[in-house]
Amino acid sequence: MREGDDCYAGPRMESLFGEGGGGMDSSSSIERDRERKSRDKLKPRSSSKKQRTRFVAHGLQPPMVSAAAAAEGVVATSFKEHDAAYFHSYSHVGIHEEMIKDRIRTEAYRDAIFSHADSIRDKVVVDVGCGTGILSIFCAYVGARKVYAVDASDIAVQAKEVVKANGLSDIITVMHGRVEEVQIDEEVDVIVSEWMGYMLLYESMLASVICARDRWLKRGGIMLPSHATLYMAPITNPDRYSESIDFWRSVYGIDMSAMLPLAKQCSFEEPCIESITAENVLSWPIVVKHIDCSRVTIRELETVSADFMISSMMMASLHGFALWFDVAFGTPIIDAQSESSMESTIVKDFGCNGINHRRHGNSSNQIILSTAPEEPPTHWAQTILYIYEPIEVTQDQIISGSISLSQSRENPRFLNIHLEYASGDRYFVKESVMR
Ligand SMILES: C[S@@+](CC[C@H](N)C(=O)[O-])C[C@H]1O[C@@H](n2cnc3c(N)ncnc32)[C@H](O)[C@@H]1O
Repeated sequence: MREGDDCYAGPRMESLFGEGGGGMDSSSSIERDRERKSRDKLKPRSSSKKQRTRFVAHGLQPPMVSAAAAAEGVVATSFKEHDAAYFHSYSHVGIHEEMIKDRIRTEAYRDAIFSHADSIRDKVVVDVGCGTGILSIFCAYVGARKVYAVDASDIAVQAKEVVKANGLSDIITVMHGRVEEVQIDEEVDVIVSEWMGYMLLYESMLASVICARDRWLKRGGIMLPSHATLYMAPITNPDRYSESIDFWRSVYGIDMSAMLPLAKQCSFEEPCIESITAENVLSWPIVVKHIDCSRVTIRELETVSADFMISSMMMASLHGFALWFDVAFGTPIIDAQSESSMESTIVKDFGCNGINHRRHGNSSNQIILSTAPEEPPTHWAQTILYIYEPIEVTQDQIISGSISLSQSRENPRFLNIHLEYASGDRYFVKESVMR
């Protein structure tokens, strides 16, 4: 990476796998300027700064192992190690404290469960990844006949105690095991799960929810949440750029510009988990992926991608792209007719992948948990892909390209991110890994 190449500094995330995250995707963040016909691979990250509070490295789960990974001979024991590390991370009280204290998240789930009381009362529920048991208890409060609360982490031991202390042991059965492996001997009416990772898909826990759905959900049963949408928009963030990069231009009066290439490389190699506001966003977002939780397949999640053509709403420095998501707690799927009406609502509200998207109206009054920059912040914040060198854009200037998120072969819970973007006569590719 030469001085002057695109680069930017941001907190990197910690991984349970430590430096290099297991090796396969090290030197993973690459930004190429095709004009220069150069390709500058970045070194593995140094240990870092901002720590992701929500979970990080997981193991592979059998249903998520892609054919490609199998063909490459990814070793089964390493899957188990990854999985053990993942579930161990969820045995720590801090992560549950943080999630529960995120009131936007927890109250959205509580309100969604309460608003679906008619569909839950006297019914059977599976809580996929129950953690402390909080969502299971909300379901019991609205009259669930039976709740299977499943978690593979040792937090299940505490969940059992919490359930007991609240006098709900006759309704909630806590099962300490992987949802892919535990036995439930009846069909269920409702699946509830808080499965969303950073950038929606990081952690790949949705695969486990799909597994539970396919094993136990009755026809006509409901998924909470019912839909999820991943968005992306170009952003400007001059303060952040200045703080991490321009800082090196003059340090206690010393010209430390020689540090610039390294600062850009180290700071912006990986996706950054940061809160931005609507003021940072340069256009309406595009939809990268819309998911109907009652239909999505595990294979469909192995790679998601979208092309985009975005018009900047203002003159600004383009510093990168932000990704965020929302989930909706829609109405039950009862029959084919309501399925198709729900589908048309989705098309109307969410548009097609890659198309500029105005905030969807909530015409059906369904509860939506949003992590958008213009909404109150959540512990997910936004995921920012900073580019190494800002691009000056004018109002209405077109920014085009494509984004692709693929499960890593190293560990399907990691995401390989391939971003191509062009503006004016310049075209870049940035590759990074979220691990
Ligand atoms: C994001 S936490 C949510 C905890 C709780 N439902 C809440 O809302 O506070 C996800 C939980 O799912 C569990 N989990 C993830 N994948 C799982 C699987 N395949 N089987 C069982 N538990 C799983 C994790 O151990 C973790 O406790």
